[in-house]
Amino acid sequence: MLKNDLLDQWDRQHFFHPSTHLAQHARGESPNRIVTGGKGVHIEDRDGNRLLDAFAGLYCVNVGYGRPEIAEAIAAQAKELAYYHAYVGHGTEASITLAKMVLERAPKNMSKVYFGLGGSDANETNVKLVWYYNNILGRPQKKKIVSRWRGYHGSGLVTGSLTGLKPFHDKFDLPLPQVLHTVAPDYFRRADLAMSEADFIAHCVAELEALIAREGADTIAAFIGEPILGTGGIVPPPAGYWAAIQPVLKKHDILLIADEVVTGFGRLGTMFGSDHYRIEPDIITIAKGLTSAYAPLSGSIFSEKVWDVLERGTDENGPIGHGWTYSAHPIGAAAGVANLKLIDSLGLVKNAGETGAYLNAQMKASLGDHAHVGDVRGEGMLCAVEFVEDRETRRFFDPSRKIGPAVAAALLKRGVIGRAMPQGDILGFAPPLCLTRAEADEVVGKAAEAVAEVLG
Ligand SMILES: Cc1ncc(COP(=O)(O)O)c(C=O)c1O
Repeated sequence: MLKNDLLDQWDRQHFFHPSTHLAQHARGESPNRIVTGGKGVHIEDRDGNRLLDAFAGLYCVNVGYGRPEIAEAIAAQAKELAYYHAYVGHGTEASITLAKMVLERAPKNMSKVYFGLGGSDANETNVKLVWYYNNILGRPQKKKIVSRWRGYHGSGLVTGSLTGLKPFHDKFDLPLPQVLHTVAPDYFRRADLAMSEADFIAHCVAELEALIAREGADTIAAFIGEPILGTGGIVPPPAGYWAAIQPVLKKHDILLIADEVVTGFGRLGTMFGSDHYRIEPDIITIAKGLTSAYAPLSGSIFSEKVWDVLERGTDENGPIGHGWTYSAHPIGAAAGVANLKLIDSLGLVKNAGETGAYLNAQMKASLGDHAHVGDVRGEGMLCAVEFVEDRETRRFFDPSRKIGPAVAAALLKRGVIGRAMPQGDILGFAPPLCLTRAEADEVVGKAAEAVAEVLG
């Protein structure tokens, strides 16, 4: 392919990039990488760099890059029928088949899947239908949604509000008043260092109970949480957290939305994160791994309990007033069917568990004792290293020093992509689920070199 030398200029003149320092980018002060190809865990750019993508794009290219099975399924669907809508009972073979495949893999007591395009719109759907649910049940006051600080649930109006990270709120007039945040299940960042894990879980429960008491249970509709915090720092909850939280929600008749956009379809070594942590959700959010990002598609999976009320609602009020033009888009659905088959045939859920455990163990062995590493943690094919100025007192670096981004940049120089997580000095890894042990060794080895370069 001929190199178009104007691309860099066009990019800076015309392209509004998400999550980017707009002014620096427009002035040409930040890099722009024009990505041209990918195979397995590697991407290539047009300058000839080949990079090991240890974040699978944005934790989404779960089967790895360049899988012909999915590309061919997409092409076949586009040739046969690129689009038809899913309103008033319409479907395609791909969308109906995918719904069945998703439900076969979902935790028990799940009934139906609504397909959207991305994780944000799926959580938007969830909140809207939770409100509908409580109106049908004659509880118009029960509408508030409890989320956690450090949760990530999207960047729309409601979903950006559910997200519990400062950069997604500041200057956007978020969070909206219907959303309340409670303590993050982040033991490493506990306020009181003297707390044991058991004390900390009791503290999370007490904070949730206090919030419910303050607001009134009759005003709280749902609680949303990722099985393991993702963008908030890749933080597994302390063992027993979900077992302690769920009874509180049940007691107050608060629905549980498990946001499995990152954990759905194998990342933790189980099909769903809910299987791993024994979560019994009423609603599950899926996206990313549903198609491995070969085409945009998300989903909201509703339990029988919620579905029964939604059916009742339409008997009383007529067809549900909710839908996107591209709900259940046939090309996304075809990608999803091919992707889920590939996850099975390649044994990727098992590999995520086994190679992910290896990656985490090696990372801990390599960096766990470093003077400026406060925590190495993860689960399945998720891993994070958190940096501190002082290990003994857990004193964090001044954020203006941007230690996390500096380590990520040093890693990139060595040909490996990790992610400087947006809040805290945290280097995150979420490789494709097909990562091999040799590739895990390369990630760990180069991460250690990058840390040594920045922090000695
Ligand atoms: C847990 C979780 N929920 C929701 C979203 C939002 O998904 P999207 O970016 O596709 O809107 C993300 C994205 O990273 C996510 O990690």
